[in-house]
Amino acid sequence: MKEYRKEILLPRDKIQQRVRELALQISRDYEGKEPILIGILNGVVFFFTDLIRNLHIPIRLDFIRAASYGAGMASSGTIRMSKDVEINIEGQPVILVEDIVDTGLTLSKIKEKLEAKGPESVRICVLIDKRERRQTQVPIDYCGFHIEEGFIVGYGLDFNERYRHLADIFVLKEKESST
Ligand code: IMP
Repeated sequence: MKEYRKEILLPRDKIQQRVRELALQISRDYEGKEPILIGILNGVVFFFTDLIRNLHIPIRLDFIRAASYGAGMASSGTIRMSKDVEINIEGQPVILVEDIVDTGLTLSKIKEKLEAKGPESVRICVLIDKRERRQTQVPIDYCGFHIEEGFIVGYGLDFNERYRHLADIFVLKEKESST
């Protein structure tokens, strides 16, 4: 079995600072409006709650649950929606909030499904834009950090459901074999 060690990538202070900046930008862009923020479960929970608590505008919130990954680090390529939005988004400005965009398949599929419900607009906010494995172009309106590659954990991001609780973000590296 492979063993991994974690290397710090984004310390908590840097994450919190960037989340505040994103919240300010969204608050300015949506002044006078009441957008519906939709978080994609489960990984988004930390980012989502930190983001909305820093907004200066009224909002409503809801969640979608989509699974694009089985166990491990490779995308299964199929996206299963196991929870849809419950608020009526027709004619409303929507901001879709995700922890990380990798291939882009999850976000583009969810955006398509939301657009079919007739919202006024759908913008996308992600904490991390990882470009190495992008398969489909999806417009990112608000982005916390860009990274080129690597599998990262912490601040909601998991590897086989582990590490989500960590307040900092780490890159997982394979341990050198001692034999
Ligand atoms: P996409 O459909 O390939 O863009 O995948 C998006 C989903 O893959 C995210 O919501 C995460 O659940 C997962 N994912 C992609 N890269 C990472 C990573 O580096 N760490 C943890 N989860 C990841």
